[in-house]
Amino acid sequence: MRTHLCASLGESHIDTDVIVTGWTNSRRDHGGLIFIDLRDHSGIVQVVVSPEQAESFARAESVRNEYVLQVSGKVSQRPEGTENSALPTGTVEVVADELEILNKSEQLPFQIDDDDVNETVRLKYRYLDLRRSRMQGNLRLRHALVRTIRTFLEERDFTEIETPMLTRSTPEGARDYLVPSRIHTGSFYAMPQSPQMFKQILVISGFERYYQIVRCFRDEDLRADRQPEFTQLDLEMAFVEESDIMRLMEDLYRLVFRKVSGFELPSKFPVLTYADAMSRFGSDRPDLRNPLELTDLTKAMKSEEFKVFNRAANLKDGCVAALRVPEGVSLTRQKIDAYTDFVAQFGAKGLAYIKVNNPVQGRDGLQSPILKFLSDSAIDTIISDCQLQANDIVFFGADHQSTVYAALGALRNRIGADFEIIEEGWKPVWILDFPLVEYDDDAGRWQALHHPFTAPKEDAFDLIEEDPGAVLSRAYDLVLNGVEIGGGSIRNHRFDIQHRIFRMLGLSDESINEKFGFLLTALTSGAPPHGGIAFGIDRIAALLAGETSIRDVIAFPKTQRAYCPLTDAPNAIAQDQLDELELRIKPTAQSIAGAKTKA
Ligand code: AMO
Ligand code: AMP
Repeated sequence: MRTHLCASLGESHIDTDVIVTGWTNSRRDHGGLIFIDLRDHSGIVQVVVSPEQAESFARAESVRNEYVLQVSGKVSQRPEGTENSALPTGTVEVVADELEILNKSEQLPFQIDDDDVNETVRLKYRYLDLRRSRMQGNLRLRHALVRTIRTFLEERDFTEIETPMLTRSTPEGARDYLVPSRIHTGSFYAMPQSPQMFKQILVISGFERYYQIVRCFRDEDLRADRQPEFTQLDLEMAFVEESDIMRLMEDLYRLVFRKVSGFELPSKFPVLTYADAMSRFGSDRPDLRNPLELTDLTKAMKSEEFKVFNRAANLKDGCVAALRVPEGVSLTRQKIDAYTDFVAQFGAKGLAYIKVNNPVQGRDGLQSPILKFLSDSAIDTIISDCQLQANDIVFFGADHQSTVYAALGALRNRIGADFEIIEEGWKPVWILDFPLVEYDDDAGRWQALHHPFTAPKEDAFDLIEEDPGAVLSRAYDLVLNGVEIGGGSIRNHRFDIQHRIFRMLGLSDESINEKFGFLLTALTSGAPPHGGIAFGIDRIAALLAGETSIRDVIAFPKTQRAYCPLTDAPNAIAQDQLDELELRIKPTAQSIAGAKTKA
């Protein structure tokens, strides 16, 4: 149907007869001539139709935006002064001999170049939304990312192997999406939260280097960086230690960033322990482009009079920490109140602060409503430990450690953005030495911080029953610009260790056997030492594309309420389908499904 792509045309084609096809990006009538910007997947070229081509001209007059056209004509230099330097094809145009309308387009719900369209409307008419150059660019970038990953891994002898989508639950910490079985009525498959157990079994089967670009399903509260179904680069290797996997992944990301964004990542990525990440940045996914850091003051505040600090410093897991913000002295009362409301969302009961005029003068060089509660020695400690400078403001958090880190970690991000001090570029960091387990107050038991197949560090493993919280794991997360892009671990390849961990997590032998029996038995059949990692492809693509939401790098994403406006999924199903599955919907749920209040 065509001889050339629109954007391939240039001055070397002048006087060539061409046929181009595409969509009408815009149409303008000018002094008897009609100009059409014709768009295909390569880009745009201008078409000119003159009244001398009477039939084509008449058709061109009826053309509206997004009409689909086929144009035959000659490439010609644009007259001087009419070039468009914004278009790569801007020095030429196609002078039409013949213009065919291949298809019309009804009035559109929004203009393709309108950047301010409600997201639900964009998702409902995704075929129009995806025509925008931004979305075309995003999905092509994602393709380039995946292609680079595949080439890299294939050159290193990895085998891509598919694993089941209808399976049983893997404990990755989210709720499962369930699929009822017709043959085994009353039983359900779980959609995989990840291929974790299958990939371990593949390595045990002798596939020493497995990978898969794979869809995972998790029914959890959605955010800008979470979708109910998302894509992982999942991999697993036999006979490896942490450093083997970390070095290989650094090589991969250096290549990806060089190829896809032209950026050179460092030759070795920095490493932080979990404990350091929390105490210095209040987060296990710190954005290292932000220069702000926390200072721990817990010890110094244990014997202070000020009850807010004293009480927190003496809690079992209490903490007093400070966030020093250079040039913050001029913050207004109103802004400080806004920050106080902000940290309250993370459970902080207040946000004490001190403004610094001249730290050399001690107390007299500071201003704060809490100064009167603080002793001279406390003030000296704060000035020296936080290295306060003239024109700083310093904020304080005092509470249980988890609350202080959540509040000051989020405040650090917020102030970094507000003060525009986030550096340009990419800052990766590995986080290591996570605790193996954390105590879940709601459930009243220990939970794996990653998943229960993660191997413990051997030095403290004997404390596993006595003091589970003291045991560190052999897990590693990769964080890029404050986003957790991937995580993995060395696994338990010995039955006895895996079994002890399951027991410590409160599972009975019976339930271990029911849920994980197949994996445990495989561990007794010559399982090699192994480990792996999985990356969130959607998150990496969004970072590379400069998008804040992963929905903008997924062709057909769901809304924050896990709804698909394009297909209207999920939807109520017919009674005969329910009957076949021997399922009955509770009357209340049925009326909600009928009312369609999903978006
Ligand atoms: P994990 O649960 O850390 O590890 O997942 C790996 C990476 O997947 C991405 N991710 C998500 N992206 C979008 N939407 C979601 N709902 C979502 N959930 C996770 C994150 C995360 O870092 N089986 C282990 C890996 C292993 O141990 O090898 C796993 O799935 O970027
Ligand atoms: P109060 O004694 O409650 O009036 O608090 C005195 C100051 O300490 C106020 O500026 C509060 O915002 C602050 N404050 C109170 N509780 C905390 C807390 N848990 N962490 C940090 N600052 C706090």
